[in-house]
Amino acid sequence: MGYNIAIDGPAGAGKSTIARLTAKELGMIYIDTGAMYRAVACYFIANGLYADEQSALSACDNIDIDVVYEEDVQQIILNGENITLRLRDEAIGNMASKVAKIGCIREKLVDIQRGLAEKENVIMDGRDIGTRVLPDADIKIYLTAAVSVRAKRRYDELTAKNISCDIKEIEKDIENRDYEDMHRKISPLKKAEDAILLDTSDMDIRQVVDRIKEIYERVCKNG
Ligand code: DC
Repeated sequence: MGYNIAIDGPAGAGKSTIARLTAKELGMIYIDTGAMYRAVACYFIANGLYADEQSALSACDNIDIDVVYEEDVQQIILNGENITLRLRDEAIGNMASKVAKIGCIREKLVDIQRGLAEKENVIMDGRDIGTRVLPDADIKIYLTAAVSVRAKRRYDELTAKNISCDIKEIEKDIENRDYEDMHRKISPLKKAEDAILLDTSDMDIRQVVDRIKEIYERVCKNG
């Protein structure tokens, strides 16, 4: 088993930015599990499928997901095609939240995620990493921030890319996504009992990364 750091938390808490940067500074591999659910969502949308159990069963038989790295950046290959650049669409995020409720899809992706963590030292982010995927992770972090702060961060991200958007709509979307992720039957988003809670509402990226590195050094020293 590699050295594993699990980072969970709601949409827009900054998990991927923080996990990517921390992994780089600690010389670990960053695994974005949300991108895998997004890849499945991409398949559902491309094939006009509804997010129901029956479609999921046949999708599970027909989907092949590979995770590869190009210059340390995670790439998702769906049935032989690199779809990484398509994954951030809001429509794909909304469908991902729906397919993520279906048992056979979660089982398939959890297997892939555990396989990756077995071979390498990883920082893996998602919703169920500390509670289900890697219950024995060396360090577990639960990263969160106020809804208004998360909405503002996403708004700034989109407007910086010249994408016009409405902050109230984004906030509503985040609230809906939180509800879906926290109330589903299988592996709902929740803080693992042994996870360290980091509320980043008043912290910048550098402060959060430094805090996680401090935790890592402390755990390694006591290890
Ligand atoms: O982190 P994200 O927005 O890219 O995730 C997309 C969706 O996938 C999100 O609504 C919840 C789901 N997800 C999940 O259920 N479990 C994970 N480990 C990662 C993501």
